[in-house]
Amino acid sequence: MVCLRELNPSDLAHRLAWWLRHRITWSPPVIRRPRTLPALLQTLAPALRPAAEALISRYDLSGWEQGCDTQGFRESLYVLDVLSRYAGPPDVTQPALDIGCKNGCYLPGLQTWSGGRWDGVELDAYRRYWTLTTRRAHGEFIARSLPGCRYLTGNLLDLRGRYGFITWFLPFLHAAPLQVWGLPRRFLMPQTLLAHAWTLLAPGGRLFVVNQGEVEAQRQAQLFQKAGIVAHAIGRIESPLSPFQRPRYGFLATAQQNASPAGIDPLEWTAAPTPAGLNASNSP
Ligand SMILES: C[S@@+](CC[C@H](N)C(=O)[O-])C[C@H]1O[C@@H](n2cnc3c(N)ncnc32)[C@H](O)[C@@H]1O
Repeated sequence: MVCLRELNPSDLAHRLAWWLRHRITWSPPVIRRPRTLPALLQTLAPALRPAAEALISRYDLSGWEQGCDTQGFRESLYVLDVLSRYAGPPDVTQPALDIGCKNGCYLPGLQTWSGGRWDGVELDAYRRYWTLTTRRAHGEFIARSLPGCRYLTGNLLDLRGRYGFITWFLPFLHAAPLQVWGLPRRFLMPQTLLAHAWTLLAPGGRLFVVNQGEVEAQRQAQLFQKAGIVAHAIGRIESPLSPFQRPRYGFLATAQQNASPAGIDPLEWTAAPTPAGLNASNSP
């Protein structure tokens, strides 16, 4: 039986668009002219450069010249700054995961922060840019420029593994942002996704969540509570490199040291592909 929610015209349009996106997944190759760090730095507004230079002097930004376009450079600097301020010491010994990684543009910042291996997982990987290239093609391009990084195409719920650190910038907690991002409503399942993300943490591993606006932060706290996860509310997340108008709030939750290990290879995917077709692409 068709329920009324399924007859919502905007959701129908998103479902149709989703279906179409997953019929033709081929992408033209990503062609990006490498830019030197000084050239990338010049693309920032002058007011942002001191904060960027401070990060450049503190971290090794190898791979950024190859992998970053100007927007990715700015976004990677932002996540690097945020993690360096709020996430505590990185754990280089275990792989890390970024949930909802869009086109992988945070990967340079994430990988530079920890110095270890990173996966980015993205459900809606076949969105296209005006060049007709897909998010996935961009994500794989960026991952190739960074040691130990992979862009994973698919649903978080189909990912199995053990990660020492997980970042989750702006999970969908309400229907409105999901709609704005053009996803069918069936993908709104914040409690289920949180519970699954939690199973992906190795003992002692940490989950770092960033939400937009107070309402989302309150909802996030409720989700943690309902899942039985003790999360530290960091409060407002500030960065001089933030291009965002709305305030952001962070949470950090640590999995118990004595939690039973998943006993599965860190980066194993379930055998059955989703309709979207799961894909893990290895960097060489
Ligand atoms: C609000 S956007 C945030 C994107 C990015 N993290 C950022 O900070 O801009 C949420 C992202 O999560 C992705 N997403 C939603 N549900 C997902 C799922 N079940 N598995 C993997 N990615 C998902 C969406 O496609 C979207 O790219």
